[in-house]
Amino acid sequence: MGKIVIAIDGYSGCGKSSTAKAVAKALGFTYIDSGAMYRAATLHFLNHYLSPSVPHDVEKGLKTLEISFQINPDSQKQETYLNGLNVEDEIRTMRVSEKVSEIATVKEIRKELVSQQQRLGKKKGVVMDGRDIGSVVFPDAELKVFMTADLETRAARRQQELLEKGDMIDMEEIKTNLSERDRIDSSRAESPLTKMPDAVEIDTSNLTFEEQVQQIVDLAKEII
Ligand code: C5P
Repeated sequence: MGKIVIAIDGYSGCGKSSTAKAVAKALGFTYIDSGAMYRAATLHFLNHYLSPSVPHDVEKGLKTLEISFQINPDSQKQETYLNGLNVEDEIRTMRVSEKVSEIATVKEIRKELVSQQQRLGKKKGVVMDGRDIGSVVFPDAELKVFMTADLETRAARRQQELLEKGDMIDMEEIKTNLSERDRIDSSRAESPLTKMPDAVEIDTSNLTFEEQVQQIVDLAKEII
């Protein structure tokens, strides 16, 4: 089977990450969660370079930022590491979610993370999800998918996800966070979230998880 790059972009909470992960598994590809990288960078700046709310010393902050992924031997799940520490749970908290889109507007931070993502995907055989994968990171990706879902569905899924981790978050708070991130992500000057003309749009509002994964796997198999 040939190796291609599959770029999955879309709004917050559409299930891009879990779908991308399952697509990668079905095809024997590597999954790369670019959102986790922005989240880890956000945690780093929140902890060291944010006072009171604007990131300072961006250059220095980037020099001391090391993000990596490792497979947990027990769960077999991919986990995010920041400077050697496992931050997989911490980067999914509301503290990080509330700040990440702002941090992701900073040009220098995007530049650094995009080049790391391009390095990670150089050998192809990757599925990467995010906001600018098909437009900036891999404009030549063989398959581009743009995922959407209505806000109610997205918020309900996100609430369930957080609940499974023991975080009971109010539905309105989740909806506000998702809409606010969509607004910032779509309107920022640096590589805004946009559907590329060559991307296939998949609205997952009324699809089961298995159906959305299968649609993408089928599209990939037409190319491979
Ligand atoms: O994918 P996830 O929702 O975890 O991403 C968190 C945030 O990181 C997004 O809301 C967006 O602001 C930013 N992001 C981005 N570009 C990407 C991936 C994520 O700007 N490629």
